[in-house]
Amino acid sequence: MESRYKSFVTVEQLPALVGQTVTLHGWVQDKTGKGKLTFIRLRDGSGMVQCVVFAPNVEERVVNDAKSLTQESSIAITGTVRAEQRAPGGVEVDVADVKIYQLSTDYPITPKEHGVEFLIEKRHLWLRSSRQHAIMRVRAAVVKAIRDFFDGSGFKLMDSPMLTPNACEGTSTLFETEYFDLGKAYLTQSGQLYAEASAMALGKVYTFGPTFRAEKSKTRRHLTEFWMVEPEMAYFDLNDDMDLAEDLVEYIVQYALKTCQQELGVLERDLSKLEAVRRPFHRMSYTEAVEWLNKNNVRLNRKQSDGSEVQIDFPWGEDFGAPQEEAIMTQFNKPCIIHRYPTEVKAFYMKRDPENPRVVLAMDMLAPEGAGEIIGGSQREDNHDALLERILHEGLSQEEFQWYLDLRKYGSVPHSGFGLGLERTVKWITGAEHIRECIPFPRMIYRISP
Ligand code: 4AD
Ligand code: MG
Repeated sequence: MESRYKSFVTVEQLPALVGQTVTLHGWVQDKTGKGKLTFIRLRDGSGMVQCVVFAPNVEERVVNDAKSLTQESSIAITGTVRAEQRAPGGVEVDVADVKIYQLSTDYPITPKEHGVEFLIEKRHLWLRSSRQHAIMRVRAAVVKAIRDFFDGSGFKLMDSPMLTPNACEGTSTLFETEYFDLGKAYLTQSGQLYAEASAMALGKVYTFGPTFRAEKSKTRRHLTEFWMVEPEMAYFDLNDDMDLAEDLVEYIVQYALKTCQQELGVLERDLSKLEAVRRPFHRMSYTEAVEWLNKNNVRLNRKQSDGSEVQIDFPWGEDFGAPQEEAIMTQFNKPCIIHRYPTEVKAFYMKRDPENPRVVLAMDMLAPEGAGEIIGGSQREDNHDALLERILHEGLSQEEFQWYLDLRKYGSVPHSGFGLGLERTVKWITGAEHIRECIPFPRMIYRISP
């Protein structure tokens, strides 16, 4: 069907339009001149192209308008597309006409280096810079890859609510709000519990949306609002869950490689690192990981009661932090899944390993190159009484979780799922310095604007 809505020719279409006259709509990235030539670099959201005004070929008004352009002025340019080997994208535009929508004055982000604190204050404008722009385009591609993957594999999209009466991932990171006469409500930390109910209705489902954590962590990997995709599958055990996670991550990375060549080029990403992301990934149990750390002398700093620090072997039973995860990943150039963590460090809903009740059937996927954890998941506790015991043990309200316990009363089945953090994944694929560059408007402990 032919579309009726307004559509422009875009920069990314130009290589196929050599020899044709087009009109582009966008903004001036920069402008330079030499004698009878004026060079305008036009950015239109799809890419950037150099547009050349040659004075003898156009009216004097066009020359004057071109010369008056400032950084970020909004314009339309009409001209002929010409092949130019040396230009990025292989084309330039010979300008016939320039239409000015607005001349911009004193754009605060100039080509000189700005500190990241300044840039993040100006996030609403920083998004136009070539690196940020490239990261956002990769983010959009990753979202599309995720949706295509699940929609094409028999999953149904079943979005979980954002406002919830209870916690999913521990009570220490909850954002709280008043909910009319019903008391307190919380912004969701994860859509998982509802996804489990959805999976009992539709089999294989995924929920994909924003999640919220009042994380006190000021790291390069934590946001207070981030996007998570969470598949949940009836009749899947932990192994099935890990297989699916590997399939998904391979698909996302290979899709980004295929469709974001130009963006990854702008970001100067080492593509060979991404090309290596092929199944099977590495897998090891938590216990094997602890043994590896201790065999390789990756020691843990531990404060003693007198304030002094000692270095100790990593104690079995503690959760890994970023230093342990990074150390483990130095061995690998593709992701590694760590499974069967100690029960005490993981969430109440995870199923205990029938072969060793000290561990749960959990799995985390760590990405290489220092990217850290991108996936957390597990097989779920499907036994009513065992789940109730965990709920009570964690001091959670049985009443609030009654609906969740119901799922274990009416046709309970083994089931599993996981959550993949969108921004963590984008950070890894793009090689971005900080997770705040991987979401249009980051929310962090010390930042809520713009
Ligand atoms: O490991 P997490 O906490 O797992 C869950 O929430 C499960 N309920 C998911 C499930 O089984 N359905 O979070 C999953 C992923 C992490 O691996 C990480 O990629 C991302 O979400 N994540 C964060 N990303 C950015 N900022 C934060 N503060 C994040 N916390 C978790
Ligand atoms: Mg986790």
